Amino acid sequence: MADLNPPWALLAELTHACPLHCPYCSNPLELVRRGAELRAEEWGRVFREAAALGVVQAHLSGGEPLLRPDLEEIAAAARDAGVYTQLVTSGLGLTSARLDALAANGVESVQLSVQDAARAGSDLIAGTRSFDAKVEAAAVIRASGLPFGLNVVLHRRNLDHVAELIDLAVAWGAERIELANTQFYGWALRNRAALLPDRAQLTRAQEIVRRRAEELRGRLEIFWVLPDYFEGTPKPCMGGWGSRSLTVAPDGKALPCPAAYALPEPKPPNVRDHSLDWIWRHSEIFNAYRGTAWMPSPCRTCPQRETDFGGCRCQALALTGDASRTDPACSLSPDHHLITDALTSAPSTDYTYRSPGRLARVGGERDDAP
Ligand code: SF4
Ligand code: FES
Repeated sequence: MADLNPPWALLAELTHACPLHCPYCSNPLELVRRGAELRAEEWGRVFREAAALGVVQAHLSGGEPLLRPDLEEIAAAARDAGVYTQLVTSGLGLTSARLDALAANGVESVQLSVQDAARAGSDLIAGTRSFDAKVEAAAVIRASGLPFGLNVVLHRRNLDHVAELIDLAVAWGAERIELANTQFYGWALRNRAALLPDRAQLTRAQEIVRRRAEELRGRLEIFWVLPDYFEGTPKPCMGGWGSRSLTVAPDGKALPCPAAYALPEPKPPNVRDHSLDWIWRHSEIFNAYRGTAWMPSPCRTCPQRETDFGGCRCQALALTGDASRTDPACSLSPDHHLITDALTSAPSTDYTYRSPGRLARVGGERDDAP
C-alpha cells in the first residue's frame, strides 16, 4: 500500500434533507433520516482525520447544508483542521446574516445551484418555487465578496438554454459556472427517459459553450462536464475509484463517491467505527476497484485502462447489476446496447421528484403545484 496517494478532497454530505425535489438528485433513493446524521463534533473529528490524511478541501453539501442549525460549528471545525471549505447550496435560506456568520466561521467560497435560466423552468425542475430565492441568494453571495460559482445540471429540458444560463452567471456576478450534463444513476436513472437529451441538442449546446468560453475568457470560467452516453467513451469517474477523493454520507458512511451508497457490497465502513486513515487505506470498499487488477475483459488489456479506469462503477452497477463490469458507456463493453437502446427510446413526459408522490408533466404545469 506504499504507493497509495492521499485523497485531496472530501465531500461532506451534512444532511439529505432539502427544500428542493430535483428529479436528478445525486442523493440515494433511500434518504438518511435527520436523527441518524453525524453531530457537529463527529464532523470535527472527520475533518481533523481528513486533514491528517492529506485532504485540503471540503465541500459542505447535502441535501441542503443550510438546514443544519449547527453549520457554523461544522464549518469552524473544518477551518480549525486547516481544510478549505466550500458551501454547496440551493440558496434557499441564505440570508446575508447567515452567510456573514458562515464566512466568520471559515466558509471560503460558495457554489449555488440553479435549475434553469428562467423562473418557470427552474421551479418546475426543482419541484417547488425557488428561483426568486436563488436570485436573492446570488445577490447575498456577490455582496459577501466570497468566490462564487454557479452549478447547473443539464438535461433535455434546459440544454437549449445554455446561452441564457451563461448570461445568468454573468448577470449574477459569478466567477465560474459548472454545466454538468446529467449522470444517470439513482434518481436521474429513474427519470432518464425525461432527462436524456438528444444528440442535436447536445451538439448545439457544446458549440455555444465553446464560443461563449472564448468570448468570456478572463471574466467567467465555464466548466463543461461531458456526457458519457453519446461518444462511446466512459468518463474517468472520480478520477479513479478511491484515488483522489472521498465522500462521507450524513449517517457517517464513508464512500468513494456519493452514488456508491447504493452499492450492496462491499458494505461501506462508518466514520463512527473506523478512522478515515484506516477507511482510505484498508477498507474493502475503497480497495474494491482501485488500480487495474479488478478489471474484467475488455478493460484488462485495453490501452485506455489507466486513463478512464474502466469508467463508472456506479453506472455499471445501475445498468447491469454488477459494479465490476465494464461501464456500459464504453463502446467496447458487452453491455453497450443498454446505452444505445436508451438513446433510441421515446422520451417520457413525466418526472418522479425525489420526494415520493410528486409527478410533473414536462411542458405543462406541475399537477401538485405548491
Ligand atoms: Fe475504458 Fe475499459 Fe472501455 Fe478500455 S474497455 S475504453 S478501459 S472502459
Ligand atoms: Fe460512483 Fe462513478 S458515480 S464510480
